[in-house]
Amino acid sequence: MTKDAAGSDLHVVILAAGQGTRMKSGLPKVLHAIAGRPMVDHVLRTAAAISPATTTLVIGHEAEAIRGHLREQEGLQFAVQEPQLGTAHALQQTAPVLDGQTGTLILLSGDVPLLRPATLRRLLEVHRGAKAAATVVTAVVERPYGYGRIVRTSGRIARIVEERDASPAERQIREINSGIYAFDLPPLFDTLRTIAATNAQGEYYLTDLIAAYRRRRRPVETLVVDDPREVRGVNSRTELAEVSATMRQTKNEELMAAGVTLIDPATTYIDPDVTIGADTVIHPGVAIQGQSRIGAACEIHAYVRIVDTEIADRVTIHNFCLIIGARVAEGASIGPFAHLRPETEVGQAAKVGNFVELKKTTLGPGSKANHLSYLGDATIGPNVNVGAGTITCNYDGRTKHQTVIEEGAFIGSDTQLVAPVRIGRGAYVAAGSSITEDVPAGALGIARGRQTNIEGWVERKKNAG
Ligand code: UD1
Ligand code: CA
Repeated sequence: MTKDAAGSDLHVVILAAGQGTRMKSGLPKVLHAIAGRPMVDHVLRTAAAISPATTTLVIGHEAEAIRGHLREQEGLQFAVQEPQLGTAHALQQTAPVLDGQTGTLILLSGDVPLLRPATLRRLLEVHRGAKAAATVVTAVVERPYGYGRIVRTSGRIARIVEERDASPAERQIREINSGIYAFDLPPLFDTLRTIAATNAQGEYYLTDLIAAYRRRRRPVETLVVDDPREVRGVNSRTELAEVSATMRQTKNEELMAAGVTLIDPATTYIDPDVTIGADTVIHPGVAIQGQSRIGAACEIHAYVRIVDTEIADRVTIHNFCLIIGARVAEGASIGPFAHLRPETEVGQAAKVGNFVELKKTTLGPGSKANHLSYLGDATIGPNVNVGAGTITCNYDGRTKHQTVIEEGAFIGSDTQLVAPVRIGRGAYVAAGSSITEDVPAGALGIARGRQTNIEGWVERKKNAG
């Protein structure tokens, strides 16, 4: 690996030690989810895109919760900040690993999750091109309230002033600090040590580094992003919702550009990793989450939630279905009001109707379970008709048992199949049966009380009363 190409002199630090007071939450701020994934995961993903030599996360408040969440992240180092005395103090905690290194340090904020890798690459270009000591990513926004403001003199950045310390005139400035920077490593830690906590919050502000560099006549650059939404920080639940909406909107626009119809993008919730084929139509109130893959020319009606599920082409999902960890083959039809639970496979052109629940069940191609059924731990062959109200009794209080229904079988309505049990090829089960023994191929299984009609019973009962 050469130095410049692979970023072996490139280090990323992510600040995530703060309490996130304004979230009013027991959960650390960076673990709050945006589009189904904790905020910090989005930031780590962006960081990984520039292939840094090291990535260090500064943690403090609820450190163990964050460490626990990220324990499987390879090559991630942690620095603990205790107590949390401000952003400059947070960065100082990485001195044991980074002081003495050369190259560039990219500083990211755990609460700025929409930053794009392309912007980080531009930041590196500008920073290296200018041989700057620091380069600050900024944005010009309509509502600068709460952000640090960029104070310029003769067009150049002079310092950053925090909201609480700003004069009324400074509060009018609409160019804000995104909290994302590139730093030249050699002078960084020495200069950080000179920062004092003489401000409204009594904290060590990283933003004071800019003025410190300017006093030392070190070059400081800025990179102004085109779309300020990209550097929106999350400090409150309102901002969490706004940032989530932006992420969703971006995804929805990508999908529409690729040929997917969204009837109402404002109420369509599709996670970033989801793929959807062209000419699929998605109705309002639909959520498609996790690693779901949806084929082409499908129709997904209103108020459906699909999680980690694979759906082939030309599938129709009717209203109000919940589908988790399932696979649905081409041309199948699901719902309304169906529940497909993990490890369910619905075959080609099969039909799952209203109030039908499937769990760990394969429903063969062309088979139908149209009404009011529970089918669990079942293997159902092709072209089977499962009558209304059929229930697999798969659980005996201790273990789960399998039900097998072979090709072309017909299960009459209101049948209980007490597992383990097998219904042979082409067999019939009479309606209302409690089937406890296998039914051979081609046979009729009937297991219900015989009907008796007692003539004149009603009249006699009335007279007796
Ligand atoms: C910070 C910037 C502000 C900028 C804004 C952008 C400072 C002083 N202010 O303000 O100029 O406009 O971000 O979003 O830097 N953190 C720690 N340890 C601490 C304090 C904070 O790790 O002791 C972490 C937080 O967890 C968070 C990040 O640093 O991820 C920013 O802290 P936060 O308190 O949100 O700063 P802002 O007030 O948003
Ligand atoms: Ca913040």
